[in-house]
Amino acid sequence: MTTSARSSRPRGPIDESTVVLGIETSCDETAASIVMGGNDVLSSVVSTSIEQHVPFGGVVPEIASRAHVELIVPVIQQAITEAGIAEARIDAVAATVGPGLIGALLVGVAAAKSLALVWDVPFVGVNHLEAHLYAGLLEDPGLEFPLVVLLVSGGHTMLVEMRGPGEYRLLGETIDDAAGEAFDKVARFLGLGYPGGPAIDRESRFGDPTAIAFPRAIPDSLDFSFSGVKTSVINHVRKHPDVVTADVAASFQTAVVDSLVAKARRAAREVGAKGLALGGGVAANSLLRDRWVQACAEDGIRAFVPSRAMCTDNAAMIAAAGWHRLGSDGPTSLDAGAHPGLRLTMDR
Ligand code: KG4
Ligand code: ZN
Repeated sequence: MTTSARSSRPRGPIDESTVVLGIETSCDETAASIVMGGNDVLSSVVSTSIEQHVPFGGVVPEIASRAHVELIVPVIQQAITEAGIAEARIDAVAATVGPGLIGALLVGVAAAKSLALVWDVPFVGVNHLEAHLYAGLLEDPGLEFPLVVLLVSGGHTMLVEMRGPGEYRLLGETIDDAAGEAFDKVARFLGLGYPGGPAIDRESRFGDPTAIAFPRAIPDSLDFSFSGVKTSVINHVRKHPDVVTADVAASFQTAVVDSLVAKARRAAREVGAKGLALGGGVAANSLLRDRWVQACAEDGIRAFVPSRAMCTDNAAMIAAAGWHRLGSDGPTSLDAGAHPGLRLTMDR
């Protein structure tokens, strides 16, 4: 006889005292976190295998999966210990089910389902992109809606109108490279190493951002395009081999940040947003953070710039999104799998 594997029912109502263990393994970070009531972060542990990927100039899926297998148990144990709670206090286990690398995702999903079964608590599958949106709310639960969130990572660049928890509308996205991908590719071309975003951020401090006028983004929509500016960098450096690398880095960074900020401001005006929030790894960029605050001050709306640790991949945002999902949709079936190409479901 086969039965569909049902996740346990929550022990009680989902409220401010509900404790969620979040697990994140979609890329190279193995992370676990304990969050109470959707926004009270009791612990957040992040271990990355990035050093092992540096010689290859990018994340190697097989290496990432193996690192997750080695790290997942100690990282979860550390998160529980640092939270100072008993295992019996955990009411649900949430894990990223996509998007991401399939082998990497499966490690976190398997760990979360096993713990949910052993502890007899619900399992909650979380969309990594939705979790990035929650990262902002985690550090400032008082945010007012509607909000426009710019989600900029290595795999995504999207402008999302957030009308409330779980209510999203896609306003624009990249039509080619993600912003983080462009940072990584340009850094590799300039010989600045991997990961490229932080390397360009650092190098730009020594350069003149007005040295080279790289093209800004595309015309008349809220979509982005970064392959043009990447190609311009390559063409410029080939034509001018003596150019100062720091000037190229600073000019490239300014071109990317200019288009991100300009489109976000326009989106905020169009939807009458009360604030502009940043999320995703590229939100750790120094120039973007400064310009974001400045633009919001000029436009009289609230700027929300999460801490750098909350911008990059972490499990606190997974636990927070899991808490909201558990309240709105209930537990996820233990039959559910991982979905490498998962999208943030929203209308457009
Ligand atoms: O969100 P994230 O940690 O992982 C996913 O892609 O989901 O984002 C990683 C991306 C990489 O492309 C990295 O180069 C970029 O974020 N990044 C930055 C900075 N720090 C990380 N880009 C620009 N400036 C930074 N300081
Ligand atoms: Zn991410």
